[in-house]
Amino acid sequence: MVFGYFREKNSNFANQINDVVKIDNIELGEFPLLLAPMEDVSDPPFRALCKEQGADVVYTEFVSSEGLIRNAAKSVMKLDIYEKERPVGIQIFGANLDSMLQTIDIVEKSNPDIIDINFGCPVKKVVSKGAGAGILKDVCLMEKLTAEMVKRTKLPITVKTRLGWDHESIKIVEVAERLQDVGCKAIAIHGRTRAQMYKGQADWKPIAAVKNNPRMHIPVFGNGDVDSPEKAVEMRDNYGLDGAMIGRASIGNPWFFKQVKHFFETGEYLPPISLEERVEAARRHLQMSIDWKGPVLGVFETRRHYTNYFKGIPHFKEYRTKMVTSDKPEDVFATFDEVLEKFADFQFSH
Ligand SMILES: Cc1cc2nc3c(=O)[nH]c(=O)nc-3n(C[C@H](O)[C@H](O)[C@H](O)COP(=O)(O)O)c2cc1C
Repeated sequence: MVFGYFREKNSNFANQINDVVKIDNIELGEFPLLLAPMEDVSDPPFRALCKEQGADVVYTEFVSSEGLIRNAAKSVMKLDIYEKERPVGIQIFGANLDSMLQTIDIVEKSNPDIIDINFGCPVKKVVSKGAGAGILKDVCLMEKLTAEMVKRTKLPITVKTRLGWDHESIKIVEVAERLQDVGCKAIAIHGRTRAQMYKGQADWKPIAAVKNNPRMHIPVFGNGDVDSPEKAVEMRDNYGLDGAMIGRASIGNPWFFKQVKHFFETGEYLPPISLEERVEAARRHLQMSIDWKGPVLGVFETRRHYTNYFKGIPHFKEYRTKMVTSDKPEDVFATFDEVLEKFADFQFSH
């Protein structure tokens, strides 16, 4: 069986299953669950909800180094972090060494626990500038940027990347080792190439090969398609990785972290999240957004989450439409109350 192969052969992780994983001096428990950086999703309110529900580390969405050095308001706002989120990593992207170094100085003022470099974003407008996954075509630059950024700050520098540019050019074992050797303190690897974007299935085998490299001593986190407690167990037990970074499965479901942890501990599912809990989360999400960004942006930017909070409820369209078209906070809150009353008998499944 292919999974068993990884477990048996991977002497490097066989003894580490019960070890506490650390990013530099930050202790994260035995198999930490990390909230992935997600543009327009991983903002302070959502990060706070995920943290409350068991995320061990949370990351901001990627912030443009070019935006930050030009003091662009949109980029600067993304540096807001709150004590209750810690440990929190701020993720930055860029390909210009000078800009990235200036960015480190700016980011440090927000006092994050970690600075993460995005070497994985597949979007054309990012890769065309050599940033994000674009840098996978120039591993020497990737190494140099990482080395210089490590020298610039006392904060731990971590990297999030993909398997490679395309299937033919995967050399993630070598890349990870080189990044570790210049001082990167942890690496999170999305099991797809840039060419794949989000298509197909994430392949965790090359990530296991990184972990399996006897020279690797920094944590290796797996990412891509962890969308059930069983998959998290598989990543831990069959691939021997140090933790799972979770993206899409948490959108509208911040409870995913505690669901996985409960499954780790008991082998059983938590009862489905009730309507009351969902409404309460949506309410708090909206209130935190309003407190952070004011009523106009707060209402606007929370809209994308509602579909997921209430996924599965039949004939929900009317209420969803009200939630995503009301401009006033009190109207959205009133719709939440209506939902609570109208669907009181609805039973959610896992
Ligand atoms: C809406 C969205 C926004 C994303 N934004 C970022 C980002 O800012 N930085 C980053 O490194 N990855 C970003 N990603 C990629 C995720 O962090 C993650 O690597 C990917 O979704 C695969 O993990 P998953 O299957 O658990 O979602 C984004 C993904 C989504 C769906």
